[in-house]
Amino acid sequence: MTINEAQARFWNGPAAEGWVKGQAMLDGMFAPVAERIVETVTEAPARNVLDVGCGTGATTLAISRALGDSAACTGLDISEPMLALARARAKDAGATAQFIRADAQTHAFAPGQYDTIVSRFGIMFFDDPVAAFSNLRRACAAGGRLRCIAWRSMADNPFMTTAERAAAPLLPDMPAREEDVPGQFGLADADRTRRILADSGWTGIAFVPVDFACTMPAAAIDGFLIQRGPVGAALQDVDDATRARVIETARAAFAPYVHGDEVRFNAACWMIRAQA
Ligand SMILES: C[S@@+](CC[C@H](N)C(=O)[O-])C[C@H]1O[C@@H](n2cnc3c(N)ncnc32)[C@H](O)[C@@H]1O
Repeated sequence: MTINEAQARFWNGPAAEGWVKGQAMLDGMFAPVAERIVETVTEAPARNVLDVGCGTGATTLAISRALGDSAACTGLDISEPMLALARARAKDAGATAQFIRADAQTHAFAPGQYDTIVSRFGIMFFDDPVAAFSNLRRACAAGGRLRCIAWRSMADNPFMTTAERAAAPLLPDMPAREEDVPGQFGLADADRTRRILADSGWTGIAFVPVDFACTMPAAAIDGFLIQRGPVGAALQDVDDATRARVIETARAAFAPYVHGDEVRFNAACWMIRAQA
């Protein structure tokens, strides 16, 4: 297997489909996270910004809007379908942001190319995090900033595992989700991630816990919270009756989060700050 091959396949396949179709809903849900990243970027001068794992481009475009013509903003991602949407959105918005398809772990950046490197949930997926964060550190000018948002632990984010916890008794073959491996909770352990960043040559490393009040339409529960992720994968291999029971059980488990036609949940994250 080549570097990040499994993730590249995932983010150019089933995950891309979900993120492209659900772009407006997902960007609405994670708007508070994008706002926090923009606030952080604008705390200090930024002329050349890289958004790692930019996906469909919401954060790149928000930063580009906030900084205007004074800064160059680049989004980088391994997912072509997500980048295609990001480019179309930039064109529609008349934004100067650029998007490149590349693997952040291996891309040959010009040394010291960026003064600010950011990410909204795009840096937890590397096979070799030290290689990836070393590559990003080399891409950052001396004294430049890393400002990334990543998920804290599964225990801090019970909403995110609601479907799989409810469905587990009905899906005995569903693999349990893990932390500290490439995936949503890959950087949840602050001590481990601090070591990764230090080994990658970053300094001034700080982890600030940040919580975001997020909302999404209740109508999206089935499609986005149940039929994707670990439950969605496990549902591929079951009969129709089991499938219907799983969906009903998982749907019921979301009840505490449903308020009328809206789902409300807390996103427990780290703001990871470091300096090149
Ligand atoms: C959870 S999505 C977040 C997307 C976007 N930042 C957002 O918040 O809407 C994770 C993104 O990281 C990208 N990604 C995963 N591994 C990557 C890698 N090695 N290099 C670049 N992008 C990567 C995926 O393709 C995906 O777009």
